[in-house]
Amino acid sequence: MTRGVIVNKASNKKMGECKLGLPNADLMAFTDIKLFPCFWNKGYGKEIKNALCKYLFQHTEAVVIKADPNVKNTASQRIQETCGGKRIGEKVHHFSTEMQYYTKDVYSIVYHVQKRDWLHKNLEIRKIEQGKEKSEICAEIILSLPKWFGLPEANKEYIEGVAGSDFFAAYMFGKPVGFYSIISHFPETSEIYVCGILEDFHRLGIGKELQKEVERSLSIRYVKYLTVKTLSASHPDKGYVKTREFYKACGFIPLEEFKTLWGEANPCLFMLKKLK
Ligand SMILES: CC(C)(COP(=O)(O)OP(=O)(O)OC[C@H]1O[C@@H](n2cnc3c(N)ncnc32)[C@H](O)[C@@H]1OP(=O)(O)O)[C@@H](O)C(=O)NCCC(=O)NCCS
Repeated sequence: MTRGVIVNKASNKKMGECKLGLPNADLMAFTDIKLFPCFWNKGYGKEIKNALCKYLFQHTEAVVIKADPNVKNTASQRIQETCGGKRIGEKVHHFSTEMQYYTKDVYSIVYHVQKRDWLHKNLEIRKIEQGKEKSEICAEIILSLPKWFGLPEANKEYIEGVAGSDFFAAYMFGKPVGFYSIISHFPETSEIYVCGILEDFHRLGIGKELQKEVERSLSIRYVKYLTVKTLSASHPDKGYVKTREFYKACGFIPLEEFKTLWGEANPCLFMLKKLK
């Protein structure tokens, strides 16, 4: 169990404390938040619970996060629900005989937040129609990912090129955190022109949700194959190992390596996914 102090960044004032239980053998983690009364009913509880969920889902194996607010604490129950929590049952904490002189049994409600429910509660995927907005979102994201997008001329080309593409943006907590840009060379085939997720939001399932949305949209147009070009394993870059793992997890298979398409320094792997 890790215990943390909650501090207001702007004023540096202590607001309360939180507890974080790392996942057990069933991959269930635990959170508990206590705020000083002057910070109640201001939306901080939800923000803190979401930050703890994000940390646990991103950096640990947790697939579900448990919390057990007191039956009388309706504000805390509401926080669990707004973060995607489901009511699982009730629980009574009995104190030892000597402690019962000082305190009474505590009745609480048990909530579970599943990773998928948490993501769906906070994630919104929108198809963007305006070219300028597509370029702005693309720029914000790829320029924050220099480990993957380190060539200024290529970045400029992507930022301009996405304006005419089919463009899907992922929003978390109302802010753009990722995108997929799709182009079509022939009626039955499309290509991921460029995609990216802010590094602070990697490995939360956002890429996979964008991929699903893109596939849904392509299936309406009877597109049969989706392709992508990425840096091949002949290059030692560690970031692109993760990228290829992601595409494999989404169902892409490697088709061919083009050693000189992007110049000898950047061997290109051509990958393909057959759409349903
Ligand atoms: C590649 C990228 C879009 C993936 O998005 P993401 O939201 O982080 O990926 P997801 O959380 O949806 O991952 C889905 C699955 O992909 C696989 N995967 C993703 N990241 C992985 C990693 N770092 N290591 C191993 N597998 C990984 C896993 O199977 C994962 O499922 P799991 O978390 O349940 O095990 C994102 O990491 C990114 O923006 N990378 C930098 C830019 C980039 O590479 N763009 C593409 C250029 S061609």
